[in-house]
Amino acid sequence: MARSFEKKYWRAALFMGVVTFLGSCAAGSLPEEGSPDVALFRNKCTVCHSWPHPRRHNTREWDHYLKLMEGHMKNREISIERQDMETIRAYLHRNARQD
Ligand code: HEC
Repeated sequence: MARSFEKKYWRAALFMGVVTFLGSCAAGSLPEEGSPDVALFRNKCTVCHSWPHPRRHNTREWDHYLKLMEGHMKNREISIERQDMETIRAYLHRNARQD
């Protein structure tokens, strides 16, 4: 009886830890917070969904996703300057997951 309670307790504690961790990723600040590059990223990449954290992907994956996003933007007739896209790409690459 006491044992199973302990087990449950630890599972709950672990769960809360994971939730707190994920929460801090989602709501926390981005790398280079306050810079114009972050402002641009926030502005352009939250039109259709919330911003993905740069460390979510490595540089190769970012290139892949940015190409996909350009397609989505074209479909929705949302224009983005080539220069802005390159600024966002450079920002994501600087802060991408390393692997
Ligand atoms: C026109 C709407 C639109 C805009 C603007 C847009 N996205 Fe997306 N994005 C989508 C849609 C739709 C999906 C889900 C389908 C897919 O993966 O293609 C998606 C999915 C993603 C994903 C994959 C899932 C994930 O969360 O890991 C990433 C990464 C992403 N977007 C990054 C970006 C970045 C970076 C920008 C800014 C340059 C951006 N998006 C701007 C529509 C958009």
